[in-house]
Amino acid sequence: MERLTEPPPCEPPPRPAEKGGWDLEIPLGDLKKPLDFTRLFGREAPLAVEVGSGSGLFLTIEAANRPGTNFLAIERDGGEVRRAKDKWRRRNLLNVRIIRCDAHYLLEEFAPPRSVDEYIILYSDPWPKKRHHKRRFFQPRLLPILERTLKPGAAVRIKTDVTAYYEVIRELLDTAPFLTLEQDHRLDIEQDPEDIQTNYQRKAIEQGHPIHSLRYRHTAV
Ligand SMILES: C[S@@+](CC[C@H](N)C(=O)[O-])C[C@H]1O[C@@H](n2cnc3c(N)ncnc32)[C@H](O)[C@@H]1O
Repeated sequence: MERLTEPPPCEPPPRPAEKGGWDLEIPLGDLKKPLDFTRLFGREAPLAVEVGSGSGLFLTIEAANRPGTNFLAIERDGGEVRRAKDKWRRRNLLNVRIIRCDAHYLLEEFAPPRSVDEYIILYSDPWPKKRHHKRRFFQPRLLPILERTLKPGAAVRIKTDVTAYYEVIRELLDTAPFLTLEQDHRLDIEQDPEDIQTNYQRKAIEQGHPIHSLRYRHTAV
C-alpha cells in the first residue's frame, strides 16, 4: 500500500524583500491573525481571492481591468509564485498580493469572518484517485471556510475542464444552504467574449475538453 506523506501546509517563507517598490508577496511569517487586508493592500477596497493562481495570467488581466478591487492570490508552488510576480511587476499592478501557502490552511487560520467579496478558483487540481481526494480544494472542509469568510452577496467563481470534478463541485456547493447557483455554463459551447483564458484553459480547449463555468452567490440564511 502506498504510504502518503502529506506536504506541510506551507513552504518556508521566501527570503526577504524584493527590492524596489511594494512587496507583491507577503511572507507567511509576517502575517498576523486575523489578516488585516486594509494594511496588506494599503487601502480599503472589495476583496477577491484567487485560489491556485498558477503562473498568474488570469490576474494579470483581471486585476488590470478592475483597479478598484484588491486581489489576493494564494498559491502553494514557489515556481508559479515567482512567475506570477514577474508578470504583475512588469505590468505595475498595485492591487495584487500573493501568499505562498496551502489555501485551506491560510483561510482557516488567517482570514477574518465576512471579509471576502469574491472567490475565484480556476482549474483546481481534480486529484482523480480516491486515495488523493483529501488533497482536493473542493471537499467538505471547504464549506465552513466559505460560510465564515464570504460577505453576504459575495460570489464564488469556478472553472474546471474535468466533468467528474464539476459534478463533485456541484454536489458539494449545492448542499450549502448559504449558497445559490447563479450560473452554470459550458464555455466551450457557449463562448463568452469577456472570458479570460488561463494557460490551463487554452490547453484544455486545444485538447477538446469541456469547460464548465460556475458562479454561486452567498445568500444570507
Ligand atoms: C491546474 S493548476 C491551474 C492554475 C491556474 N489557475 C490556471 O488556470 O492556469 C492548479 C494550481 O493550483 C495550485 N494549488 C492546488 N492546490 C492548492 C492549495 N490547496 N492551495 C494553494 N494552491 C493550490 C497548484 O499549485 C497549481 O498552481
